[in-house]
This record gives sequence, C-alpha cells and structure tokens, in this order.
Amino acid sequence: MQKIPSWVDAESTAQIHSSVVFVPFEGNRTIIGKRAKIDSGAVIYGGVELGPDCIVGHNSILRQNSRIGAHSVIGNLTMLEGNLSVGEHSLIHSNNHLGQNSEIGDYVFMAPLCVMTNDPKMIYYRKGYSKVTGAHWKTLKGARIEFGARIAVGVIFFPRIKIGRQSVIGAGTVVTRDVPDYSVVFGVPGKVKGQVDPREDRIAKCEVDHS
Ligand SMILES: CC(C)(COP(=O)(O)OP(=O)(O)OC[C@H]1O[C@@H](n2cnc3c(N)ncnc32)[C@H](O)[C@@H]1OP(=O)(O)O)[C@@H](O)C(=O)NCCC(=O)NCCS
Repeated sequence: MQKIPSWVDAESTAQIHSSVVFVPFEGNRTIIGKRAKIDSGAVIYGGVELGPDCIVGHNSILRQNSRIGAHSVIGNLTMLEGNLSVGEHSLIHSNNHLGQNSEIGDYVFMAPLCVMTNDPKMIYYRKGYSKVTGAHWKTLKGARIEFGARIAVGVIFFPRIKIGRQSVIGAGTVVTRDVPDYSVVFGVPGKVKGQVDPREDRIAKCEVDHS
C-alpha cells in the first residue's frame, strides 16, 4: 500500500498501488472514494475527486481538480489535463486526451485515441496571451459530451462544442459543430448521417449500490 500524503483523503477500501505518484496543487485536497482502484504508474494531483468504485488505469495522469463520478473507468495512458469532470458509469478508454474545462456526462463510452481540444485560436504568446494574469488560460473551454453518448476511436473534438445525448460519433471524425441529441455523426468535418432511436437505444442503468 502506498504511503498517502496528508492532503489526500482516501477511503480505507481504496486500492492504491505503491508506485502511484501524488502531486500537490495549491493546497487542494484530493478525495478517493470507497473501493476506488488506482493502478501502477498513475499520477494524481491535488484537487482530484474519484468517486466510489472508480478505476484509474496504469500510467494515466489526472491533473488538478479532475472529478470522476462513481463507477467510471479511466483507462491506461490517458491524460486528464485538469479542471474537468467525468460523470458516473462512464468508460474513458486508454490513450485518450481530455483538455482542461471539458465535461463528460454519465454513461458515456469513449474508445481509444480521442482528443478533446480547448483552445480555438492557439494564441500562445500572441495578442491576448498573458503569462502574468493567466488571461489566456481563462478562455480555454473543451467540449461537453452529454449522457449516454458513444464516441468511436480517433475522434477529435473542437473546443466548446456540445455532443448531444445518446449520439454516436463515428471513427476518425473531426467534430467542429454542436451535435444534436440522438444523432449519428461521422466524417471530416463531422456531419449528421443518421439518427439513434431512443426507444431502441435504452440504457440499462447500473443497479450497484455505490454508497
Ligand atoms: C459510426 C458508425 C457506428 C456507423 O455505422 P453504420 O451506421 O452501421 O454505418 P455503415 O457501416 O452502414 O456505413 C455507411 C456508410 O458510411 C461510411 N462510414 C461509416 N462509418 C464511417 C466513418 N466513421 N467515417 C467515414 N465513413 C464512414 C461507410 O463506409 C459506408 O459508406 P458506403 O455507403 O459508401 O459504403 C461506425 O462507422 C463506427 O464508427 N463504429 C465505431 C467503431 C469503433 O470505433 N468502435 C470502438 C470500439 S473500442
């Protein structure tokens, strides 16, 4: 068992591999819920909240203030850039990149090799950029992926867009605009190619008691 720093509140039933690295951030406390499991090589910053029964895979990095809801999985080698949230019962596969200020809802499936961007104009050291005030950082905003959406391999999300409820985004799509609820979208740029029938695509809610 890892020696847990004093700023980490870990439930006694959590399993934290001895090689996990904890990185303090601005005095923020980190919370690790009941039965949560953190695999070897993961890096967990201050301000992270892991709900009950979460899994964080090998060598994944959860930067400051990343919040993961109950029973969600972050796969191996996945990068969470911080100040973001993943809901409950979501599966974020391996080798994904979630930019700062992204939002992922409940029951979302994300296959490997997806990227959520957050900086539309990349104004790094150009007009509007200030390392002193941090103004640039305040403008960053990632996508919002809503309840039950399914994201195939290799999808790129432009900043600030909304992916509607139970929509399906096909492999290799570049999503440049908002996606309406229950849409099937694919291509570069992504276009609506079909519809999901909510009567057929009913999500069986998890019945596990996570308390
Ligand atoms: C989005 C998706 C579900 C669409 O499936 P579908 O509705 O059954 O579509 P079809 O396979 O019938 O294909 C219809 C047409 O769209 C094209 N097409 C399908 N998906 C495409 C995609 N992602 N990008 C570009 N074209 C695509 C097909 O080539 C086909 O073209 P054609 O009519 O000229 O032959 C599917 O393409 C997809 O991306 N699946 C996800 C696979 C995946 O990443 N799984 C993750 C597991 S970890």
